[in-house]
Amino acid sequence: MSENSRGSWNSKLGMVIASAASAIGLGNLWRFPYLTAKDGGGAFLLAYLFITIVVGTVMVITEVALGFKTRKNPVGAFGWIHPKCKFVGVLNVIACMTILPFYNVVGGWILAYLVKIHTFNQVSDYKVEFTNLITADYEPLVYFGIFMVFSAIIVFRGIQKGIERFCKILLPLLLFLLILMMCRSLTLNKALDGVKFFFIPDFSKFDVRLCLDAMGQVFFSTSVGSGVYITYSSYLKTTEEKGIGKIILPVVIADTVVSLLTGLTIFPAVFAFGVEMTSGTGLVFITFPQIFETMYLGTIFCYVFFLIFFLAAITSAISLMEVPISFLIDNLKLSRKKAVVVYSIYCLIFGTICSLSFGRLGGFTIGGKIFFDQLDFLSSNILLPLGGFLGSIFVGWILGPEKLHVFVNQKQQKMYEFCVKWVIPMATLILFIDCIK
Ligand code: TRP
Repeated sequence: MSENSRGSWNSKLGMVIASAASAIGLGNLWRFPYLTAKDGGGAFLLAYLFITIVVGTVMVITEVALGFKTRKNPVGAFGWIHPKCKFVGVLNVIACMTILPFYNVVGGWILAYLVKIHTFNQVSDYKVEFTNLITADYEPLVYFGIFMVFSAIIVFRGIQKGIERFCKILLPLLLFLLILMMCRSLTLNKALDGVKFFFIPDFSKFDVRLCLDAMGQVFFSTSVGSGVYITYSSYLKTTEEKGIGKIILPVVIADTVVSLLTGLTIFPAVFAFGVEMTSGTGLVFITFPQIFETMYLGTIFCYVFFLIFFLAAITSAISLMEVPISFLIDNLKLSRKKAVVVYSIYCLIFGTICSLSFGRLGGFTIGGKIFFDQLDFLSSNILLPLGGFLGSIFVGWILGPEKLHVFVNQKQQKMYEFCVKWVIPMATLILFIDCIK
């Protein structure tokens, strides 16, 4: 494929917005609260924030710089460092392929809520409703299929202009609504207990499992270790390389702020309503509607919230489609149309198994986990950090991070180089070794 036919963003801002749209998604609104609940609140938050600063941000900057320099998809970009490094790009593509099937299933649940929430309001027992929904045979499959077709159509049509325009409205709206929800939640009875749970770390909770979960969440939430930023920044028009690292910092900040706002909305409500912390993947689907029910015009807010939730999910799903598709187009020389069809069939098969793993296929477990949980664990806790580990080793030690002029300020550049060479490889490696033990 020639450089020109690869397409480009209208502006740097467009690329930043599309990246933020990729980063902000189910990871913030669904995965972050349920992991925080599972791993003991404040302790998890502390680990998450620390890893975001030293690993997440540095990885995002590295991927952006790599894509910008090479103007290639992840396989091409790593192949540019050294032909033998190509497999890291392939690993990036596989990571996206592991995430998207279960991501689409959750997207389907959101869609189901949008269609059915008015019937839930009369019943009020969201836990029962949610469980009935996800364990059913056909219903979740239909919604999952519709969600998948939506994202496939957008990717098929070419996403750049759509996303750029769409997200300029979407992101501020999302923030506004979340702040509103947070205010409501913080004024509930016993809200303070939730805030304390979220912010005050219980140091006895720190263990390897918690750190591994936090690292997986940082990779998942900021979309690193999967080549999204390499792909997106390869579409940048600008040729000014110096200081490229800085343009992407707002993405990490926005992503972290959305997670914090979600936590400050969910946990006060969890304590106020006595929802079980262990409700896992269902936490947001059960707690949020409960808050809305207590609000004036609650049903309308509920609809708007799940609509935003849906849009946030779809813009991320698009990025998870775009990486393997750009690989199929560039490396296997498929047309965009064929690539979308092939990848969609793949997602349909694996997504169906994921969805059924809550019901009919519940007995089919791998390593004690149902298929859905296994894909989630495999992608976030293994494949993405592994992509980060190998990526930082190859950029840090084979290419040399000084070749990527990410910061103009010398001190910042030196700190960046130190993190790529030492901090990321060490942090990911230590956790892996402990995980395998
Ligand atoms: N970051 C997104 C979220 O928080 C999910 C996502 C989109 C993603 N693209 C990715 C995760 C690539 C890992 C890799 O929902």
